[in-house]
Amino acid sequence: AKNVGILAMDIYFPPTCVQQEALEAHDGASKGKYTIGLGQDCMAFCTEVEDVISMSLTAVTSLLAKYKIDPKQIGRLEVGSETVIDKSKSIKTFLMQIFEKSGNTDIEGVDSTNACYGGTAALFNCVNWVESSSWDGRYGLVVCTDSAVYAEGPARPTGGAAAIAMLIGPDAPIAFESKLRGSHMSHAYDFYKPNLASEYPVVDGKLSQTCYLMALDTCYKYLCHKYEKLEGKQFSLSDAAYFVFHSPYNKLVQKSFARLLFNDFLRNASSVDEITKEKLAPFSTLTGDESYQSRDLEKASQQASKSLYDAKVQPTTLIPKQVGNMYTASLYAAFVSLIHNKNSELAGKRVILFSYGSGLTATMFSLRFHEGQHPFSLSNITSVMNVAGKLKSRHEFPPEKFVETMKLMEHRYGAKDFVTSKDCSLLSPGTYYLTEVDSMYRRFYAKK
Ligand code: ACO
Repeated sequence: AKNVGILAMDIYFPPTCVQQEALEAHDGASKGKYTIGLGQDCMAFCTEVEDVISMSLTAVTSLLAKYKIDPKQIGRLEVGSETVIDKSKSIKTFLMQIFEKSGNTDIEGVDSTNACYGGTAALFNCVNWVESSSWDGRYGLVVCTDSAVYAEGPARPTGGAAAIAMLIGPDAPIAFESKLRGSHMSHAYDFYKPNLASEYPVVDGKLSQTCYLMALDTCYKYLCHKYEKLEGKQFSLSDAAYFVFHSPYNKLVQKSFARLLFNDFLRNASSVDEITKEKLAPFSTLTGDESYQSRDLEKASQQASKSLYDAKVQPTTLIPKQVGNMYTASLYAAFVSLIHNKNSELAGKRVILFSYGSGLTATMFSLRFHEGQHPFSLSNITSVMNVAGKLKSRHEFPPEKFVETMKLMEHRYGAKDFVTSKDCSLLSPGTYYLTEVDSMYRRFYAKK
């Protein structure tokens, strides 16, 4: 199989959201902390009728229907998620309901988990399967689904929720450049979920930022190294049209891109002009550790990378800023934003993606766009996803209502024997929702 990659995509996020400006005031944070400081506009959250299973049921059925894919045509289904609903039964098995109905139970794959990285692991598994000798000619399907919620405190505004489905196969409009890839994996306690009775993570915010940037540096170094071995020339920011980052909050994305420019500066790469060299010169002798702590370097490199950021990163930021951190779906929601904003200009271009999951696992990899053929064309993917429509039809909740919902969900997490309000008035037709968890913890869903 050639040009294996993403043939089709769809995204779902809850219609319920809270404005960051309102949350900021409600939390007593200084004005601008969430909106300018973190760079976030709005945050989606699941109410009691939605969860990672309902969102993924919605995303998968929607993708199959809109691209007219027969469920029998799926041969592998992989889910990435870090939202634990069951310690044994995979989310994938819930999704099998869709396929069993069509008589297809011959589908490989289960769930992949490591913080926000599980979606990337699932994606690589599917791509590898299509490229392998066990491929049977059918499609792979990847689902990233998460509800990101934090305890009250500084991390709470960095929540979010979404599910993304991606159809995998050959001759894709979004093809992998599989040789162009760098990973960094290591043992860290930056963000983890050791308390199995709670949905909330334990998080060392500052450490997680540094771990993220260190992983970024290392992945970029490996990717550059592989490119140079392959192409016989140096890689730099000029060699990709766009850079897409896992986006816990937008400020970290700004800092990440600035960090890549600093890497190019240290490597004396062609992407760095004279003005930038002058601006960054004072920092050329910092040790690695010092460079992660230097506020002056952060400011100088963000300033120096501003125009490149606007061209190569800004088009990827829409959904992460509007919906928040979607954990496994976050990187792919940034990627969806790029397709939404630039669809007609993408053919032929290379895009570099950086996936980060705390704990920690990270990979930087490369994709190449092609126009593709209907229904697997960039223009059709854009219209199917209808990002603008989905963002516009959301309902803003006041912060008090959001906090109330979080309290109810804390109570419901891991609970049995309850029925939900079944209030699906805010959901659009075709959306799945939770109706009941019975005395055996079995979960029941309905479709609006
Ligand atoms: N106006 C403008 N900017 C402001 C204001 C204001 N009124 N107040 C603060 N800021 C700025 C700060 O200067 C800072 O920006 P800077 O880093 O450019 O200096 C930013 O807002 C955040 O303020 P901090 O004081 O650093 O925020 P705090 O430490 O309270 O929380 C954090 C931020 C650590 C990111 C927290 O939200 C968190 O723990 N989030 C979850 C962890 C996370 O997402 N980590 C990322 C990688 S791991 C993962 O994906 C889960």
